[in-house]
Amino acid sequence: MSKVIDWFNARFPAREMMREHMTEYYAPKNFNILYYTGSLLLLMIALQLLSGFFLMAHYVPTSQDAYNSVQGIMYDTKWGWLVRYMHVDGVSLIFILLYLHMGRGLLYGSYRNPRELLWVIGYLIYVLMMGEAFFGYILPFGNLSYWAGQVITSIIHAVPIIGPGLTTLARGGPGVGTATLERFLALHTVLWFLILAACIGLHILALHKVGSNNPDGIEIKDRKGADGTPLDGIPFHPYYTVKDIFGVGVFLTLFAAIIFYAPTMHGVFLERTTFFRANPMVSLPDVTPPWYLAPYYAMLRAVPNKYEGIVLMALAVVLPFFMPWLDRCKVRSSRYRPVYRFMILLMAVTFFTLAYVGEQPPLPKYFLIERLGAAIYIGFYLLLPIISRFEPTRPVPERVRS
Ligand code: HEM
Repeated sequence: MSKVIDWFNARFPAREMMREHMTEYYAPKNFNILYYTGSLLLLMIALQLLSGFFLMAHYVPTSQDAYNSVQGIMYDTKWGWLVRYMHVDGVSLIFILLYLHMGRGLLYGSYRNPRELLWVIGYLIYVLMMGEAFFGYILPFGNLSYWAGQVITSIIHAVPIIGPGLTTLARGGPGVGTATLERFLALHTVLWFLILAACIGLHILALHKVGSNNPDGIEIKDRKGADGTPLDGIPFHPYYTVKDIFGVGVFLTLFAAIIFYAPTMHGVFLERTTFFRANPMVSLPDVTPPWYLAPYYAMLRAVPNKYEGIVLMALAVVLPFFMPWLDRCKVRSSRYRPVYRFMILLMAVTFFTLAYVGEQPPLPKYFLIERLGAAIYIGFYLLLPIISRFEPTRPVPERVRS
């Protein structure tokens, strides 16, 4: 066996890669539970690829047959229900992990110098993931898929001059139909997915160049021992590989429990109206996006003018890209920044409140919440450069707290 390994290593830099990225890659010793999210996201992307492959083997992308083919997967194909629920519930779990992952980055200032590019690539992954989820959402061609496809592509219609042409291009014709399914399937499984996968690869490469941050926001590379290794670091392998395997075990148990006992999560992970065939003659009273896109939809509805709503929504999506340059504080982690910590918590509550109202029918009683939520969300980013310059900070310890 060792001869085979030697033969392989003489032809491929496996040993060097293992050393550089695992056994001699030092990570801070004070990682907490939020540091499971990165490896779990990698796991979930791999599972989506696997379940997606099996779904593709049975799915038919035509307006006539798409709905039937998905029902066939659910009821007539061996283990089809498991594969479909893995894929559908996997999306919601990915977004839960993404929100925890980004929240962790915001809390500990992981977007700050030298990790700006890591943050920008990460946020690009999030934006691409929203597109990837939207394309997938339309494919089962239930009635909600159909109407969501109509509503979202009609938002593009409002873009000045090129809007109508873009809408026709996205739909592949005047309405949502077979041509739309074909191009959305091609994007979902090939082009968009490959760009997403490439960005994930770049994210990991950038991470290994700059190294991980930690809950204290202290740079471990600044304090090295006589042997040249960081005093507050431990080798990624075996310490964090073992820790991550434990996390994977717990997470997969939870994932299985959801699939077996609450696969639709009472309509939150999979809406009731996706169980009815697409019908252009039966419009739905309230077409709302899935929960993970709902905060942006709530902001779109916060202003009565459609164009202004689109500008507000676009601003909400774009502003977080600039986080590394908006935060001017000298201290990185919110552990030592009480004002910033409060702002982050307020932001989290606002975001999930917006997700809730974005899922509700457009009733006047929600307008005030939508407007207030949009104002807090946008205000956070616009006021941060000023607040972060003058906010009081607590003394940062020299070494990480274990
Ligand atoms: C599928 C999507 C993603 C995958 C697979 C992924 C993967 C990872 C992994 C494996 C790590 C190292 C382990 C860890 O710190 O948990 C990491 C760190 C990081 N990621 Fe991501 N990530 C994704 C999305 C994002 C997004 C959307 C953002 C930000 C908007 C982001 C920003 C960061 C930052 C700033 C770090 C360093 C955190 C620190 O050291 O404190 N990532 N990512």
